[in-house]
Amino acid sequence: MKVLNFGSLNYDYTYRVSHMVRPGETLASENLQTHCGGKGLNQSIALARAGVSVFHAGMAGEDGGRLLEVCRQERIRTDFIRNCEGKSGHAVIQVTPSGENCILLYGGANRKNSLEHIENVLRSFGEGDILLLQNEINLVDELIERAFRKKMKIVLNPSPFEEKLLDYGLERVDTFLINETEGRQMSGEKTPEKILERLRQTYPQSEIVLTLGEKGVCLGGRKETVSVPAFCVKAVDTTAAGDTFTGYYLAGVLQGRGKKESLRRACAASALAVMKKGAADSIPRTPDVDLFLDKGCGGV
Ligand code: RIB
Repeated sequence: MKVLNFGSLNYDYTYRVSHMVRPGETLASENLQTHCGGKGLNQSIALARAGVSVFHAGMAGEDGGRLLEVCRQERIRTDFIRNCEGKSGHAVIQVTPSGENCILLYGGANRKNSLEHIENVLRSFGEGDILLLQNEINLVDELIERAFRKKMKIVLNPSPFEEKLLDYGLERVDTFLINETEGRQMSGEKTPEKILERLRQTYPQSEIVLTLGEKGVCLGGRKETVSVPAFCVKAVDTTAAGDTFTGYYLAGVLQGRGKKESLRRACAASALAVMKKGAADSIPRTPDVDLFLDKGCGGV
């Protein structure tokens, strides 16, 4: 069984600010740091650091050297990353003193995947292989359709959410990893219970993992419902916490850990991620997650 993550690769420009800039306001930032990121790359790194071998596919621009270097350092397979003219994707991120962020994306190379590239990549994968997707690249609908035809298992983190995603044949998705905001947008419901109920009705073949920030996580499975509380930590930067969760949860399941243990490990990994600045840089390694869990650093 192989794992393919077809996703974005970004440079993140992270500005520390006293508050999120308001409409019409000019705000001086306190500090700028540049990191590698992108929901796709972050999730590949989280999978790799959790001990899963992953192929990353996607597009990097003329300036993409550092993005590929980071993949190689992490032992992520780069066979399916192509270079194209123009700039790589990037994100402008504001982070406040409480660790909250808001993100402005420029798609760049991430929006230049072609059908030809997708078909070439999928040729190397087949029944039972995993396809992990987010929504920062173009042709997500085509990827879902083609991977489903090949009987691959599709795992979707529909982030950032946009209305047209709902027309992408989502009943073909095996597992959704969704935060509360995305859950509200996808279901039209407001409370976690209702969101889960509505999504389970709409996608009865799928498993829904709904992350709730400080309130933990709920899984609405085909058979079971599991809830796990969050770990109580002091956040300095929440960027990539969701990506860390996705990578560690998927890794846990693929490594044969039960759903509950996988959720708990993913919560621990994302708790560690929010205690560190940056996106990819903040994703913990397996020994750190083990230590955190051994020390019982949390509310479970
Ligand atoms: O989820 C965090 C990521 O979102 C950042 O790394 C940024 O690149 C955006 O894609």
